[in-house]
Amino acid sequence: MPNSRDSESHPRSQAAGQTEQRAHDRSESAALSSHRPRRLRRTPGIRRMVRETQLAVDHLIYPLFVEAGISEARPIDSMPGVSRLSPAMAAEAAARAHKLGIPAVLLFGIPQQKDALGGESFAADGVVQQAVRAIKDRVPELVVITDVCLCEYTDHGHCGLLNKEREPHPYATLPNDYLLNDETLTILQQIALSHAGAGAEIVAPSGMIDRMVGAIRTALDEQGFTECSIMSYAIKYASAFYGPFREAADGAPQFGDRRTHQMDPANAREAVREAELDRREGADLLMVKPALAYLDVIYRIKTEFPELPLAAYNVSGEFSMLRAAGDAGYLDAAAAQWEVLTAIRRAGADLIITYAAPEIAELLDAHA
Ligand code: PBG
Repeated sequence: MPNSRDSESHPRSQAAGQTEQRAHDRSESAALSSHRPRRLRRTPGIRRMVRETQLAVDHLIYPLFVEAGISEARPIDSMPGVSRLSPAMAAEAAARAHKLGIPAVLLFGIPQQKDALGGESFAADGVVQQAVRAIKDRVPELVVITDVCLCEYTDHGHCGLLNKEREPHPYATLPNDYLLNDETLTILQQIALSHAGAGAEIVAPSGMIDRMVGAIRTALDEQGFTECSIMSYAIKYASAFYGPFREAADGAPQFGDRRTHQMDPANAREAVREAELDRREGADLLMVKPALAYLDVIYRIKTEFPELPLAAYNVSGEFSMLRAAGDAGYLDAAAAQWEVLTAIRRAGADLIITYAAPEIAELLDAHA
């Protein structure tokens, strides 16, 4: 096919070099016309052979909400198809996930009692600790990861201790209710120890407290849990996409927000700094959260730290908006969810935490 550059529009009076240029253009266009990318999209078999990104059940982590003192599953309105479970029901759900080939669950706890210090978070018989044991009893092969944070356990809904609970007021230069850093670390250490003690293989601190990874690593090592891994929510943004989760886990802050510790959504270079610090403090795996609005950050972290396994959290808001659109008939939610998870993998995530893990595992199985 001739293209416009081959046309006879050049005045004959122009330099002789132009004849040569035209000959070159012609042979280039002949070469280009032999390129037909559609050949490699022609059949499902060929597409499968040249697919660059794989999404497999091996990459999925399934989050579960366990609530103390309930005897029936409690559906979460803002997350269609997701419920709060008792520890025994969580073990059932974990067994189903295992059967589908999902390698790991991530546990969140909702306690019976909340208080200023989040005491139930590190109780030996706390709801997460019970769930870990129940799951390990039922499906020992399934990897158990636990969320290490205080927001579901404190009556004020913040991720640690606030600058008012201690007398005398410890930090006069910090405002009242400022989330205290190092005081919170001590509690995070106790939570991580209690989860490791119950049998969790991986603890996942999610509070964006400075030096949380180093503090937890030290405590675990000192108590003989050298083999317990840390998956750090290294890069966690102050995101509106956590909305449904806060109903799910009853962890909304009663006042204020989390902007003094979670990252500003506008920042990406700072993500590299956060990842570097957590790597140095001994994180075994890194996480970027949320995933869908932060694909560039996932790509950047994978590029800068290729040696560390990288997880991405396809958070509650990302999940619920697809479900809602699917329920309204605007799109095919399962197909869109597959596409989103594939995009997260393509950006560079090794692992994806997703509430859709069971449905996607079934979908992948059906297409295998
Ligand atoms: C904190 C925590 C949150 C999520 C995971 N861990 C909420 C928050 O930081 O406000 C959000 C997960 C989701 O939205 O799916 N423990």
